[in-house]
Amino acid sequence: MAQARTDVPAPVTATPFLKWAGGKAQVLPQLAPLFPARFERYHEPFVGGGAVFFALASQRRGLAATLIDANPDLMNCYRVVRDRLADLMPLLREHQANHAKDYYYALRAQHDLPPVEAAARFIYLNKTCYNGLYRVNSKGQFNVPMGNYVHPRILDEEVLRAASDALQGVDLVTGDFSQVLEEAQEGDFIYFDPPFVPVSPTANFTGYWVSRAGKAGFGEEEQARLAQVYRELDRRGCKLVLSNSDCDLIHDLYAGFDIRMVQVPRLINSNPEKRGPVAEVVVRNFSAADHRWR
Ligand SMILES: C[S@@+](CC[C@H](N)C(=O)[O-])C[C@H]1O[C@@H](n2cnc3c(N)ncnc32)[C@H](O)[C@@H]1O
Repeated sequence: MAQARTDVPAPVTATPFLKWAGGKAQVLPQLAPLFPARFERYHEPFVGGGAVFFALASQRRGLAATLIDANPDLMNCYRVVRDRLADLMPLLREHQANHAKDYYYALRAQHDLPPVEAAARFIYLNKTCYNGLYRVNSKGQFNVPMGNYVHPRILDEEVLRAASDALQGVDLVTGDFSQVLEEAQEGDFIYFDPPFVPVSPTANFTGYWVSRAGKAGFGEEEQARLAQVYRELDRRGCKLVLSNSDCDLIHDLYAGFDIRMVQVPRLINSNPEKRGPVAEVVVRNFSAADHRWR
């Protein structure tokens, strides 16, 4: 009988350790075949829950990457998972053991904690709050009510360890997406998943993010600024993939690039008219010849 080899490290499958609005896990099967087959460094300037980064890092051990997000609490959490997992786990264990309504609101009211405590609080609130939403008040304080989970998984050791492995050596930047211009070079791959342009008058998907200028939301001006960054990176010879909603503004801003539709399965909605897949666009600046997924 063949012996199992022990000299080859087992592939680690890393997945997001947070719930994140607009998370890309569901659309990955359609998205991944559109990525470049070869690239140097990977950059993700709106990393959020990192579904795409973790999928890529699972494919390529030691992926050289820079992850950027404007949310400082989120980026602190990534740094702690990368560098101080052993200190973080016992705090999550404690939150898991004590989870209750009063405990949730007492922890939610705490601010200005040291990095490890802040990361444990962030993960705890993310796993127990209403729908995993992230929303802050005008003072930047998290204000989402508690959700109705019977057994929320606050400490998932396996997922955290795999995420920590994938994050080793990765650059983590708190800031605006335009910071990608500081490092990206010819041959690098950049995936953009910004807050989407709302497609219906009632959609207000962008309200809980704070832009570089400190204004709520990510409006047309920000979308136009992003398109300028995209064009600058295109001139540099970077390989670019961007997701957004299928609307006139996006078709206008990215005219001349390869724009294709992907159908995204939507979670069950109580309104029957809102069930079924929705279309998103994927904007690329490279040709079909270079899009084989390894
Ligand atoms: C749609 S989410 C990304 C979701 C991610 N692809 C995933 O799989 O979870 C958009 C992210 O952009 C971040 N963001 C909003 N404005 C930004 C800005 N000006 N610069 C950088 N990040 C920003 C938000 O904090 C949020 O995490």
